[in-house]
Amino acid sequence: MVMKASNTTERVIQHLRTVAATQMPGSRLPSVRHLMREFAAGPGTIQRALDHLVHEGLIEAHPGRGTFVAKQDDKERWQAADTAWQNVALGEGRFEPDALQAMVRLPPSQSLPLNAGYLPPALQATDLLKAATSRALRRSGYWERMPPEGMYQLRAWFAEGTGGAFDAREVTICPGTQSSLAASFRALANVGDPVLMESPTYAGAIAAARAAGLRPVPVPIDGMGVRPDFLADAFRTTGARLFYCQPTFANPSGITLASARRQKVLDLLGEFGAFLIEDDWARDFQFEPPPPPLATDDRNGHVIYVRSLTKCAAPGLRIGAICARGPALGRLRAARLTDDFFVPGLLQEIAFELVSAPNWVRHLRALRGALRARRDGMVAALNKHLGPCELAKIPDGGLHLWVRLPDGMSDVEVVRRCVRADILVGAGRDWFPADPPAPHLRVSFAAIVPEDADQAVSRLASVIAEIQDVSVGVVHSA
Ligand SMILES: Cc1ncc(COP(=O)(O)O)c(C=O)c1O
Repeated sequence: MVMKASNTTERVIQHLRTVAATQMPGSRLPSVRHLMREFAAGPGTIQRALDHLVHEGLIEAHPGRGTFVAKQDDKERWQAADTAWQNVALGEGRFEPDALQAMVRLPPSQSLPLNAGYLPPALQATDLLKAATSRALRRSGYWERMPPEGMYQLRAWFAEGTGGAFDAREVTICPGTQSSLAASFRALANVGDPVLMESPTYAGAIAAARAAGLRPVPVPIDGMGVRPDFLADAFRTTGARLFYCQPTFANPSGITLASARRQKVLDLLGEFGAFLIEDDWARDFQFEPPPPPLATDDRNGHVIYVRSLTKCAAPGLRIGAICARGPALGRLRAARLTDDFFVPGLLQEIAFELVSAPNWVRHLRALRGALRARRDGMVAALNKHLGPCELAKIPDGGLHLWVRLPDGMSDVEVVRRCVRADILVGAGRDWFPADPPAPHLRVSFAAIVPEDADQAVSRLASVIAEIQDVSVGVVHSA
């Protein structure tokens, strides 16, 4: 449900971030009463903003005395520690946090976030979550141990969302899709194994596969999704038994696997005895009805299906599900149990209360309308300003647009200069499992209201023009 209070909270957060950045550590921040007057907001809204910044470690709250810019007294002690030996002890790492950190970091106040992978506060299901939480808290036993596979009613709800592909017994509750992917890569393959991935694909999946010791192998896509001829070739030449795929509104390309290709992909899974991990992250962000999950056409346990509530409700509702059948289900449950036993009962209760509330469907409807307007605003702005770039596909769902930069332009350089212009955007190379074949940007529309799209894209266009001018200059002077 679209909420006004969250907008104000966001504005207060941004204001206080700027204040904190310009004041000495320990300085007193404006009082709650002052902020209430300045933003014409209630005490709850101000308190939410303050709590948020306290969690970030940017400010300190001292009840009865006020709020202050956080002190950094430990800084010197940290700097003095000699931890160089750890580099030797740790050796080569398998974690690549950079692209992921950009996804979970909150944008700085003044910037226009064209890189949002989650809903901004104004579109989150904040009111519904509040009501769901108070209903869940009236229950008892939520601090008890939970079944590792999760709460039955919640599993049944996720099963229903698979369009009949799975039933509740085949569902395992996880703390979000990222964790489902990490568990799946470890459970369904062994260290050193190849894993096929569409190219481009979700950066978090590439990172999770590498962290599991797997070798991501890119399989090219076109406007109809993954190319079956290349997929067959990749299965044949690598011996892979695992394919990570987003058949619906893929992040970042926005492409949906064409009906004509679905059976071909499933046939290849049968032929090569392989699993497909279907990441159905954007089904709730549909502007046109997508085909049903690929899993609905799979009888023999080839498709492992993952989905979560973090995208359509709020990023903090880290609840998702893995659906699987056969021995793979046992492997996945063992992996999940080994990771962290079970997902906290209270969060599961809240999630179930949320999705069974009568207003949940209304929230999803309002959300789709708002996102569709944002997509249209961004597409119009891109068409108006980004002449030298190419938008291959206007997606029928999801949160992102995939923009091809002019040949030879560095996506990293664009992103770096954008930061200086207070624009946050994703460098395309993060979404390629191997060398990027061409420079791209991922432009997300979720956090940009249609009225701001023009300004955001014209700033982006200026950055691109600036780089083009410089490179043209280099050519001329050579
Ligand atoms: C395609 C895709 N899959 C999975 C995730 C992770 O989702 P979650 O928040 O449920 O872990 C994301 C987040 O950006 C995503 O884009």
